[in-house]
Amino acid sequence: MDLFEYQARDLFAKHGVPVLAGEVIDTPEAAREVAERLGGRAVVKAQVKVGGRGKAGGVKLAADPADAVEKAKAILGMDIKGHTVHKVMLAQTADIEEEYYVSFLLDRTNRTFLAMASVEGGVEIEIVAEENPDALAKIPVDAIEGVTEAKAREIVEAAKFPAELHDQIINVLQTLWTVFIKEDALLVEVNPLVKTSDGKVIALDGKVSLDENAAFRQPDHEALEDKDAADPLEAAAKAKNLNYVKLDGEVGIIGNGAGLVMSTLDVVAYAGEAHASSLGGTVKPANFLDIGGGASAEVMANGLEIILGDPDVKSVFVNVFGGITACDAVANGIVQALELLKSKGEEVSKPLVVRLDGNNAEVGRQILTDANHPLVEQVDTMDGAAERAAELAAA
Ligand SMILES: Nc1ncnc2c1ncn2[C@@H]1O[C@H](COP(=O)(O)OP(=O)(O)O)[C@@H](O)[C@H]1O
Ligand SMILES: [Mg+2]
Repeated sequence: MDLFEYQARDLFAKHGVPVLAGEVIDTPEAAREVAERLGGRAVVKAQVKVGGRGKAGGVKLAADPADAVEKAKAILGMDIKGHTVHKVMLAQTADIEEEYYVSFLLDRTNRTFLAMASVEGGVEIEIVAEENPDALAKIPVDAIEGVTEAKAREIVEAAKFPAELHDQIINVLQTLWTVFIKEDALLVEVNPLVKTSDGKVIALDGKVSLDENAAFRQPDHEALEDKDAADPLEAAAKAKNLNYVKLDGEVGIIGNGAGLVMSTLDVVAYAGEAHASSLGGTVKPANFLDIGGGASAEVMANGLEIILGDPDVKSVFVNVFGGITACDAVANGIVQALELLKSKGEEVSKPLVVRLDGNNAEVGRQILTDANHPLVEQVDTMDGAAERAAELAAA
């Protein structure tokens, strides 16, 4: 989960990384009072989860409280790379002399953590990495040892930070590492880390990505979720513990196993190319949904409920390959799920194409044939079923 800058700033402050005072608002009028509290002058910063806000005009200096209202008015509602600005942070201004870069991240390729640092901050670090790779120091960090003072010194020296700032930057690196570990982050990045005209080192912009797999031991993190931005169907699926991703087509997809679901998306998209869609273009998958190995009636019913709740869905393709869970168990799951939905008054109203293959496929198919649900059809092959589902979804 990526955080907004103001949330990153709060986590930095909590663990002792030097930051400037700031407050978040969502109306221009509120800017006046906040700017007054910050001493009159303030930087008005768009809060969107995308980089390059400065270049896009989303970071503006306000000379006084009245100006802060004007700048907030200009930035709120702005579109930055497809993200609408709903909130701005007003922050104290820094008198910047130099801009640096520091970050810690999980380096999956090398199975370790990585520190990156550069005296060429402020600009996008990808550009520094490409155009001047020697200016970006990369130092592995051992997960058990962490960022000791010696490790921080190694980073500071590799990045060639000015000698008089070493102690301050070592402190930044060690406190930032605390954020990384204590908050279970996958990335903490400061860009720019600045040197002010009076020689202080301050984190002016922060990016934090939290590891959602650690949510069970981070009860405070739920409050950081951007509930407004979440897709309502995805939120409902999450509440039911389903692996669901909303896509923009009209063939609902249910499968068992992420790999099978991924290939189901491909065959449906391919079959859909021959059919025009009422949404414009050709027929496409409406979602990714992996119901996993068990495929109980309840999980099947939950999955169907989410998919049928998507108004774009015109047909549903249930693609199951029986493995440890045999097809007869899955077929019974489907039959019971249809009854469960009916008893809840949410009877299936869209055609369902089911393909069962693998362990006990014959028995499973017979169960569905016997149930004889008017909207359920069976097709024995994956390609054939994808074709039928696409045809049923076509305009
Ligand atoms: N509090 C501040 N005081 C003075 N200048 C700032 C402040 N915050 C940001 N800036 C300037 O604006 C630039 C862009 O801001 P930043 O927060 O890094 O946004 P982004 O990385 O999205 O462009 C910074 O590199 C810095 O020069
Ligand atoms: Mg930045």
